[in-house]
Amino acid sequence: MMLRLERDSRTPLYLQIRNQLREMILDGTLSEGSRLPPERKMAAALGVNRTTVVNAYRELAADGLVEGHVGRGTTICRPPLSSSPQSPTYLPPHPLVWSEYFVPRTEGSRDPLLRDLMALLTRSDVISFAAGIPAPELYPLDDFQQAMTHVLNAAGQTFLQPCPVEGYYPLRQTIARRMARRGATVRAENILIVTGSQQGLDLIARAFLRTGDEVVVEAPTYLGALHIFGAVGASLLGMPLDEEGMRMDVLENALVRYRPKLIYTLPTFQNPSGCTMAPRRRLQLLELAHRHRVPIVEDDPYGELYYTDQDPSPLLALDQDGYVIYLSTFSKILFPGLRLGWVAAPRPVIERLSQIKQLADLHCSTLIQGAVHEFCQQGALDRHLERVRDLYRQRRDAMLAALAEVAPAGLEWDEPQGGFNLWCRLPAGIKARQLMAEAARQRVALVPGEVFYPDGGGQEEMRLNFSYPPIAQIPEGVQRLGVALTALLKKRKWVEEQHDVEFAAQPIV
Ligand SMILES: Cc1ncc(COP(=O)(O)O)c(C=O)c1O
Repeated sequence: MMLRLERDSRTPLYLQIRNQLREMILDGTLSEGSRLPPERKMAAALGVNRTTVVNAYRELAADGLVEGHVGRGTTICRPPLSSSPQSPTYLPPHPLVWSEYFVPRTEGSRDPLLRDLMALLTRSDVISFAAGIPAPELYPLDDFQQAMTHVLNAAGQTFLQPCPVEGYYPLRQTIARRMARRGATVRAENILIVTGSQQGLDLIARAFLRTGDEVVVEAPTYLGALHIFGAVGASLLGMPLDEEGMRMDVLENALVRYRPKLIYTLPTFQNPSGCTMAPRRRLQLLELAHRHRVPIVEDDPYGELYYTDQDPSPLLALDQDGYVIYLSTFSKILFPGLRLGWVAAPRPVIERLSQIKQLADLHCSTLIQGAVHEFCQQGALDRHLERVRDLYRQRRDAMLAALAEVAPAGLEWDEPQGGFNLWCRLPAGIKARQLMAEAARQRVALVPGEVFYPDGGGQEEMRLNFSYPPIAQIPEGVQRLGVALTALLKKRKWVEEQHDVEFAAQPIV
């Protein structure tokens, strides 16, 4: 170790030793854990008094740069960082730029349209036709509290223990029984409980898709599915819908031409369009999937929310050959905050998805699964569904009546037989994006159709949700929407008139 002492300097010798050693520690020449020479040896090597070296080592110890141990000598420590610029161990602030550390991915939406919409939904003066959730004031809180208390009283320790990744077996049995009532025969072993059907979709995407794989989706379709498939790098083939659901002629061409890995469909009370696939189409879809050997993912969160006498069966009920991976959730029929959904599929699929789920979160909350099972056992889910079907039907009817009353010419809408949403086509030349901005000024929120399309389209369409706003607000909200739309129509008319004037002013040659 080379230390140079200037005996004529005004800096005392012990400080010269301390300064030089400090620099060597800070620049890494002396590494953490290495030892300084014993004081006596150092003093002899430098030709100084031993006390001079003792004082230098003490100074270094006071700065936290060395530690003295009896019998082991003086060891170099990792320099403690100081916030004082005067300190020898001061490091200027250099915050991490986190985005530089992230692996590049495309997950999540950065669409400013959705950001603006979210900002709008936080305003208490806005009537929201934009949410996609049940009405909180209809939540069956007492019944759920009873179910929760029951499981905690009866077997609190069990329900606070881990459970198998596939889920709490009695809940899987209950779900299987409920599905059988809807015509789909599955066994509890074919059911995987997931953290909302969003997780189910994510597991499916991870299990089946690689970057560049083609996936058939409906156009429009569920926004969350677009994000999930996009995040794994899948390429989306949007199939147009007509009043009977996905167009089978277009699907057949896509199957032949692109050989997709999956067909993702919402055959019952589709989100966002409200459309239900006709029975004939369902058979055609299964037949095409069978012929081209492509699995179908059926997403069915709304099937039990029907507003006619008909309880529609899932597509799965018609599936003879195990081509359908079925997804549903308690989010729409009970509470979205439970984060509880399920996948029903052939065993090999359940096993694969379970392996992936185990990596993500081990299993869903045992307590919540126990409480939901108890809630179903007590008949509370059936009672709740009966009640909300009636109330949501009233909300839908209130929206239809208000639209019929105030809608300007050119606005068209469908009449959904279930679900939460009503799909509208705007008068020609009116963009839903513009309408969203104008409607925000009138304090009403909607979702522009384009966010639901995989590959453009939907600019002159919009989704109106009727499940969330209290029924008393629906006519007022539609009225405000009518004002916004009329304002845009007036603007459009004015622009057209200007064009006509300009045109008329042209000399005819
Ligand atoms: C069609 C569709 N699939 C899946 C989901 C996600 O539901 P969950 O809350 O169970 O994750 C939704 C929620 O809006 C949906 O509309």
